[in-house]
Amino acid sequence: MTRFRIGDRGRPPEHWGSALGFVLAASGSAVGLGNLWGFAYRASQGGGAAFVLLYLLIVLLVCLPVLVAEMVLGRSTGHAPLLAPVTAGGRRWAPLGWLYMAAATGILSYYAVLMGWTGRTLLHALADGLPGDMAAAQTFFASISSGGDAVLGHLLSLALTGVVVAAGIRGGIERLSRWGMPLLFLMLLGLLLWASTLPETAAGYRTFLLRWDAAKLLDPATIRNAFTQAFFSIGTGIGAILAYAAYLERRSPIPREAASVVAMDTAVGLMAGCVTFPVVASFGLGDVVSGSTVGTLFIALPTGLASLGLSGRLVAVVFFALAYIAAITSAVSLLEVPTSSLMDRLGWSRRRTTWLLVLLIAVLGLPSALDVGVLERMDAVFGGVVLISGGLGLALLLGWGAPARFLQDLRQSGSSDALVRPLLWALRWLSPPAITVGLVVSVLDLARSWSG
Ligand code: PFF
Repeated sequence: MTRFRIGDRGRPPEHWGSALGFVLAASGSAVGLGNLWGFAYRASQGGGAAFVLLYLLIVLLVCLPVLVAEMVLGRSTGHAPLLAPVTAGGRRWAPLGWLYMAAATGILSYYAVLMGWTGRTLLHALADGLPGDMAAAQTFFASISSGGDAVLGHLLSLALTGVVVAAGIRGGIERLSRWGMPLLFLMLLGLLLWASTLPETAAGYRTFLLRWDAAKLLDPATIRNAFTQAFFSIGTGIGAILAYAAYLERRSPIPREAASVVAMDTAVGLMAGCVTFPVVASFGLGDVVSGSTVGTLFIALPTGLASLGLSGRLVAVVFFALAYIAAITSAVSLLEVPTSSLMDRLGWSRRRTTWLLVLLIAVLGLPSALDVGVLERMDAVFGGVVLISGGLGLALLLGWGAPARFLQDLRQSGSSDALVRPLLWALRWLSPPAITVGLVVSVLDLARSWSG
């Protein structure tokens, strides 16, 4: 008897075509606008090397064990995010399932708007070229970031995401990841080589990534940025990887797969920073970036590249194309959370569930498409606080509520105790206190920035 549970009624349940397909799809979920837009946006808010260090520590010590727990929860229950916590820990864990549904739906509602901006900037670079100066770039950004253009971009991006998810795990999500991820990596590598030839490359790295100020390690804004960036970028704590892991074979080595996802995601984040910051430094755009808004990347990058003529335009096209690919492989994982959950809970067909949810999220995203301020707040609440709370729930569920499940699943798939025990230890003793501190600091810092 097959152990896979989620699928269209009357058809065999779904699963990944291969282990590589799963790793690519999970990496596709992790690597997204968070790496390209979020990393530049948050790294530029003054934390410098302290931000980068905190971010790396959180990724390694906190997010990695939580990601393993998330994969175990999906695979061992075979259920989608709504039902998996109840299956593993009993009825009192039901709110965690709902938290995943709310977080994924909330994030996708504004993530699709950001995708729309990305697509629109790409089309503009292709068809009309780049804005000639800063004022033109700001006017262009203002015209695409809210209102009719933003709504259209949001709707089209959601529709595209819906097409992939409706096509299923193998035929849609795995197929997209198989060509999208290698292509993205290649494009980024090309851009990295190009950026290393810019005049102010070293200055860019020094100003934004390497400037060391130990006091920043205790700065609440830096701590909030590092936590948010780590959790958002890996994309753990929201059920997306859980949803993917429910379609996973019993035998695959989860810790290794989680490490690959984390390595890929961190590499792309750092590589993207190494492309964007030299551009910013080389073209004297530091002020735009330090006045940091969500528009940083969309204003600073095209402006800097414009002065390079045709080659700059080509670089812009490659950058925004790869950003769009990164975004759609993440968006499909967000949509898979409520889609697989409703299929699992109500027995609905994949197609019907997907399109109903697309409709709902299209409406929920309208306020973000009409007002950048709303989008920023949605990101702060859902991408920051709610996502990190989901990570805390996961660590508590598998570290304390159902540790036997964690041990058993990993041992059965061939992981040695020398690996599994330290992971469980981190999940019990490291992740919950660290996430709690991050959460409290984030909420306080957010409240302060909103009241100030
Ligand atoms: N990790 C994605 C990014 O960096 O853009 C965003 C994301 C995807 C967050 C999936 C959460 C998630 F479940």
